[in-house]
Amino acid sequence: MSQQFDVVVIGGGPGGYVAAIRAAQLGFSTACIDEWKNDKGGPAPGGTCTNVGCIPSKALLQSSEHFEHAGHSFADHGIGLDNLSIDVAKMLGRKDTVVKQNNDGILYLFKKNKVTFFHGRGSFAKAVDGGYEIAVTGTASESIVGKHVILATGSNARSLPGAPFDEQKILSNDGALRIGSVPKRLGVIGSGVIGLEMGSVWRRLGSEVTVLEGLPTFLGAVDQQIAKEAHKAFVKQGLKIELGVKIDKVTAGKSAVTVTYANANGDAVKLEVDKLIVSIGRVPNTIGLNAEAVGLKLDERGAITVDDHCHTNLPNVWAVGDVVRGPMLAHKAEEEGVAVAERIAGQHPHVNFNTVPWVIYTSPEIAWVGQTEQQLKAEGREYKAGTFPFMANGRARAMGDTTGMVKMLADATTDEILGVHIVGPFASELIAEAVVAMEFRASAEDIARICHAHPSLSESTKEAALAVDKRTLNF
Ligand code: FAD
Ligand code: NAI
Repeated sequence: MSQQFDVVVIGGGPGGYVAAIRAAQLGFSTACIDEWKNDKGGPAPGGTCTNVGCIPSKALLQSSEHFEHAGHSFADHGIGLDNLSIDVAKMLGRKDTVVKQNNDGILYLFKKNKVTFFHGRGSFAKAVDGGYEIAVTGTASESIVGKHVILATGSNARSLPGAPFDEQKILSNDGALRIGSVPKRLGVIGSGVIGLEMGSVWRRLGSEVTVLEGLPTFLGAVDQQIAKEAHKAFVKQGLKIELGVKIDKVTAGKSAVTVTYANANGDAVKLEVDKLIVSIGRVPNTIGLNAEAVGLKLDERGAITVDDHCHTNLPNVWAVGDVVRGPMLAHKAEEEGVAVAERIAGQHPHVNFNTVPWVIYTSPEIAWVGQTEQQLKAEGREYKAGTFPFMANGRARAMGDTTGMVKMLADATTDEILGVHIVGPFASELIAEAVVAMEFRASAEDIARICHAHPSLSESTKEAALAVDKRTLNF
């Protein structure tokens, strides 16, 4: 007789593992199946985010930023260093340790919350009375039954046609996080989030980085005033960014990768690099789910079709995270996972997509929530804008990190905050205040009247709010 669960979650990334914990907290007997293996073949729950995404990329961003500071900005603070060196193997080892701490943390949380963990692949066998039979194939094969099934199988890197990832020369995010020594020449295709973050890591460590972007606009989804400021900073740091290119061919040779492309003027260009990162977006992952066995509906992109409540076309089958529509972000996946568990319990949670923050962890960091100025213009919405540069912020000056600004957009009549856009130090942390404000539908005046600690970077948010009403105090 198969083991029976109230809730079976397939996928143990941020969407799945958090859904499993919340379901267990709500009193459901819960299983989570995840197939990710560590280097020794053991379980490594946490998905893309923990293993080859958010966590390891931030570990390398931190290490490479320390190196850059030691090499460039310590001297401004009167700190001298001789014989600065990098031990890439140690850097990667530290990153692996951080990943393992997170894997182990999730296994601990499963135990603590009494979630039964299965290490292996979960796929639909058939619909049965009172639920779905799920085949688990891993070190052992077994079959379990779930009354409710939550699918959280994530996404995979999209490859360029004719240039499959070999993870040696042509790298996805996975290979990009494992380069064993600093390549002299690194090519990056796609100047999106991964391209900029990974390009920054290896540039800081000494690579000559060329980023080739298909679109004519840099970071088209970002408020363009912020994107322009970021572009200026990246170019100054030495990132070569070419916009409006059309990739023709990628050939991996023995010692180099050759990319031929047409530049924005239509001229044919040949670029030779030692490694090439291809970061041109991700595709939802439903491989191995055996969706056909139960008639699970996918859309034309291969994503699982869901309604606003993350319900699929099948009764009691739900899907969350990268495998469904919406931004491919860990925190979005988590919010959906929690909401689905609560819906199964008969509660009425709500995920507000308008207040999902975005962060690009480059230096300067870029973070935003809500609408951009170009979106408001396109909508024909009347708005007021206020900006405040970090150059005028005392804490930023003391830190020696004055690039960028906070920009706030508010409704022209009601003063409700419609968007906050930041490029600069700790934008990733500063954005949280804006998210809270927008969740509570605050006005710019509300932020302007709140006491912010001095000296702090967050005073720039207050000043941007004051700027909406043209009354900054320090600029
Ligand atoms: P995933 O994390 O992809 O997890 C899915 C899990 O399901 C995997 O473990 C997979 O092995 C497993 N699985 C799939 N099919 C099966 C099956 N049939 N049976 C069993 N298991 C299965 N987002 C942020 O918010 N902030 C960041 O800083 C950030 N940085 C990123 C950096 C990089 C380099 C990349 C690639 C992504 C980054 N992301 C970031 C995006 C983030 O990683 C994803 O949005 C997030 O991981 C999605 O969570 P998920 O649970 O939907 O899927
Ligand atoms: P992306 O969607 O952020 O950027 C892809 C870029 O590649 C775009 O600018 C696109 O125009 C360009 N592109 C697409 N096809 C191309 C082609 N043929 N030639 C040249 N350029 C091309 O995707 P990316 O960077 O792969 O990241 C995937 C997702 O992972 C992100 O969208 C994000 O959701 C998530 N992520 C989030 C992070 C964060 O929150 N800090 C960090 C890294 C990834």
